[in-house]
Amino acid sequence: MKTALKTSNPVRLVTDCLVIAVAAKNKFSAEAKEIDIASGKRLARVLENGDFDGSLGTSLMLQGLEGVKAKRVLLVGCGDKAKLSLKEARKLLVSIAKSLLSSQAKDAHLALASLALAGADHYWLAERLAQELEDASYSYSTTKSTKAKASALKSISLAAPKGTSKAKIDTAFANGVATGRGINCAKELGNLPGNICTPTYLAQQAIDLAKGNRTLTVKVLSEKQMARLGMGSLLSVSAGSSQEAQLIVMEYKGAKVKPKADRPAPHMLVGKGITFDTGGISLKAGAAMDEMKFDMCGAASVIGTMAAVVEMALPIDIVAIVAAAENMPSGKATKPGDVVTSMSGLTIEILNTDAEGRLVLCDALTYGERYKPASVIDVATLTGAAVATFGSHVSAMLSNDDALAAELSDCGSASLDQVWQLPLHDEYQHLLDSNFADIANIGGPRAGTITAACFLSRFTKKFKWAHLDIAGSAWNSGAAKGATGRPVSLLLEYLRRKAA
Ligand code: BES
Ligand code: MN
Ligand code: ZN
Repeated sequence: MKTALKTSNPVRLVTDCLVIAVAAKNKFSAEAKEIDIASGKRLARVLENGDFDGSLGTSLMLQGLEGVKAKRVLLVGCGDKAKLSLKEARKLLVSIAKSLLSSQAKDAHLALASLALAGADHYWLAERLAQELEDASYSYSTTKSTKAKASALKSISLAAPKGTSKAKIDTAFANGVATGRGINCAKELGNLPGNICTPTYLAQQAIDLAKGNRTLTVKVLSEKQMARLGMGSLLSVSAGSSQEAQLIVMEYKGAKVKPKADRPAPHMLVGKGITFDTGGISLKAGAAMDEMKFDMCGAASVIGTMAAVVEMALPIDIVAIVAAAENMPSGKATKPGDVVTSMSGLTIEILNTDAEGRLVLCDALTYGERYKPASVIDVATLTGAAVATFGSHVSAMLSNDDALAAELSDCGSASLDQVWQLPLHDEYQHLLDSNFADIANIGGPRAGTITAACFLSRFTKKFKWAHLDIAGSAWNSGAAKGATGRPVSLLLEYLRRKAA
């Protein structure tokens, strides 16, 4: 997708599709007014007929208006507020993206100045438009015989207010595209079935990403290497599977440091990569078990984020770790009551083999200690309780550092990929007491998201850490079943602020 800045008169603009914002109650922007007059009041008539009323997120594609050079005019409703909130702006941009992509228009033009935002500028708008265009252009077809057709749209031009920097618009657009691609990468990995997207497949994706990239190196630890490191917890999860677990370590060195100067401490991402979660010997019920192929969406979001980080060439150091394994029952599988020793030395009584996410994450977190990270964020589809609490709109967040939690909360609002904090209070810790080990892997039926985070907190004492439970936000069920690519845009917002 190419971008350009254009400021010519909308009536005379040669384009396949001119996008015109129309407020509810027939309020025309300057552009809309010009188009209306040139076309002999066509817009006014459309509104009179009631086919389109300008309410937020609605749109109407008009073909060939008399007196207007553009082949099509896309009316998009921007509601009745003087200024749009970021969420409203997203709704509008998603609607624009869907209309443009489903048309045959090869290029389009949008006047940024015709949209007033509360709390963001037109650079944000340009970036978000690019992100939504990329995001909306994804559809899953890898394991279907008929492949999705690429959309016709090749370029988009923007009219911007005086004083707008062409370079900054280009960067904004490129960043939006990179974010969208990162999201789509996460969606694709999430959507792939468990028989294709195995731990080894995830490792290969990371290796491929590093190819030809001097800033990114990937190493993959085999089960043998993990056993040597004492990762008895992680290995207990893959014990029942014929698929080998993989610890995927991606080291991104983007920080610009003077020769001989020390590199800054890296920020760290850790993803849960259970490529299929049957529950193991504590077998899950059959209904909707297919959706447990999405149990690697934390890992997918970490890989998707790294893909975007590489594309944006962010000037910081980041280490991303993916703990990939398949949770299966078999004669070799871990049994309830088994006690394993984690890499940290803590022994764990596995009371429920379905609480496997924390078992792979704890060893990955301990492994991460060697990098002395400045901050650690783990991302995991960890508990059904997070779905019960939050549904799909926000991800649960728990942290051992209030400043980090506040930062992530802020990043969630800015990226429209929101999180909500739950308490990690000491009072919950005793629920993990075990008669036979240092700690049990479940904390009973209540406060499941919190006790899962309490478990992880035993392994994160050496750094500032936040845990994102994305069990509700990572994928949609029902007719629109599919991965969402969350929380890639949240993670990118966080990392970009660290790089600024
Ligand atoms: N992957 C699941 C969590 C999950 C369940 C995510 C449903 C999305 C939808 C996780 O491994 C799991 O099974 N958690 C158990 C923990 C319990 C045994 C303490 C759960 O939440 O039921
Ligand atoms: Mn499970
Ligand atoms: Zn799981």
